[in-house]
Amino acid sequence: MKLNGQRRWAAAGVVVATTAATIAVALTAPPAGAAPGCRVDYTANQWGGGGFGAAVKITNLGDAVTGGWTLKFALPGSQRVAQGWSANWTQSGANVTATSMSWNGGLGTNASIDIGFNGSGAASGDVNPTTFTLNGTVCTGAPTTTTTTTTTTTTTTSGNPNPGNRVDNPYAGAKVYVNPDWSAKASAESGGSRIANQPTGVWMDRIAAISGTTGARGLASHLDEAVRQAAGTPLVIQLVIYNLPGRDCAALASNGELGATEINRYKTEYIDPIAAILARPAYANLRIVTVVEIDSLPNLVTNVTPRPTQTPQCDVMKANGNYVTGVGYALAKLGAVPNVYNYLDIGHHGWLGWDDNFGPSAELLFQAANASGATKANVQGFIANTANYGILTEPNFTIDESVNGTPVRQSKWVDWNRYTGELPYAQAFRQRAVQAGFDANVGMLIDTSRNGWGGAARPSGPGPKTTVDTYVDGGRLDRRIHLGNWCNQSGAGIGERPKAAPASGIDAYVWIKPPGESDGASEDIPNNEGKGFDRMCDPTYTGNPRNNNNLSGALGNAPLSGHWFSAQFQELMRNAYPAL
Ligand code: BGC
Repeated sequence: MKLNGQRRWAAAGVVVATTAATIAVALTAPPAGAAPGCRVDYTANQWGGGGFGAAVKITNLGDAVTGGWTLKFALPGSQRVAQGWSANWTQSGANVTATSMSWNGGLGTNASIDIGFNGSGAASGDVNPTTFTLNGTVCTGAPTTTTTTTTTTTTTTSGNPNPGNRVDNPYAGAKVYVNPDWSAKASAESGGSRIANQPTGVWMDRIAAISGTTGARGLASHLDEAVRQAAGTPLVIQLVIYNLPGRDCAALASNGELGATEINRYKTEYIDPIAAILARPAYANLRIVTVVEIDSLPNLVTNVTPRPTQTPQCDVMKANGNYVTGVGYALAKLGAVPNVYNYLDIGHHGWLGWDDNFGPSAELLFQAANASGATKANVQGFIANTANYGILTEPNFTIDESVNGTPVRQSKWVDWNRYTGELPYAQAFRQRAVQAGFDANVGMLIDTSRNGWGGAARPSGPGPKTTVDTYVDGGRLDRRIHLGNWCNQSGAGIGERPKAAPASGIDAYVWIKPPGESDGASEDIPNNEGKGFDRMCDPTYTGNPRNNNNLSGALGNAPLSGHWFSAQFQELMRNAYPAL
């Protein structure tokens, strides 16, 4: 799992948020229920060089709109729409038209929808558009409070804005479930008792995992044990929902059991039974966190035609829509259980941290969150770095520095990525997701199970400023050969211990990948678990476009993904940071 493929698709220019402005448009409120009526809140953030982003909130103050909507307005000066989201955007001269997508064409009375676009050509003195029409009617709704938006991250730590009994951050004030099956394996290792009582993710990695497999109890048994561990206090149990049709389309180590077209089996034999168990009254007081389908949607952004990182299977999954359909179904079904908290996977900074991948991924996630009956209310947040090795932050250099006039972003290691670690990546993605239309109170999780990068090889300070590469390579804590490497990485260590609310916008550091469980076999091993052989797990493999043709950096003698890998467990403990 976990994976892959990323690299930048094309280098993009530097834009810096410098100014912000919000304008609320509106005049008088029509009587409730009168048809038609609308309000538009338009918020623009200017970057340097004429670039800007505009968030557009449409509120329907009239009768329900069912058959789709069309919003029109004129842009000032020479402003142009460059790339929009959550609507089909066109521009003719100054006049912009946004029409609804297949999934957001219905707008009930008083319902709102968030759309937006990135633009070019902004000049100082430009005034935001003030006249909007929705389906031909001029929007004259009641004014909203005008607020200036900035790009700061806020954390909501109180309140109960979600439907059902959900709290804002399920980890706040809660214990987290310790999986006895993993705990027993960790304890059996020399020195393992130092971490055996840590909470780890429970992976529902195939249909059989629901009722249990050899050495792994089934879902209901985990939940029973969770109720016992809770002992009447709040407890989070972390489940990984990981069984899409055509799973893991850019890698082979966890290809999965369902073929590309088997969406109905996914629904009826996998998601429905899981949802039915989660909904049992005995489990109603648990806070059930679900990590929804890692590595799926990001693959549809980065590993499809015409990109050089393309795989045939990702093209198939994009074309048949079954990742979007399946994720939407999972969100809707699981989200209907009032004590379930869905967190959607967002890969990691070494995958989606390039401008060409970042925004489009947020948009695709929002699309999936509105597929198959799901709504944004079914998404409580996102998770970064699941089973990957990305460091939280690199302390020895920053993304904005230069060496001898060459920016750090241009170093071989960073390669124009916008982020150097999972923490700034997750915080920025949170904002972008809200811009894409997700709720403002979404929270982030970061998997820190194997991103410690401690031990003897950890640099103690910055590299020499001979060139940008000596500087970055000498100082970076992430010691991978290439940022795109993902399988059983040599030199990795246990990262931050699981912790609630560790930073702004972050609900928790979590250990979703259980340390000691392999990412994939280093050679072909026949099995009936749907596990293939991915050469990224073979230490002799010299790579592919997804790791820019570098050595895989994988440990040798690795068992199948998910199987116990004692040598890796020992190395992870040796290189733990903070040390154990
Ligand atoms: C495997 C799963 C396993 C999980 C956690 C994945 O790579 O495909 O079978 O449960 O890792 O170790």
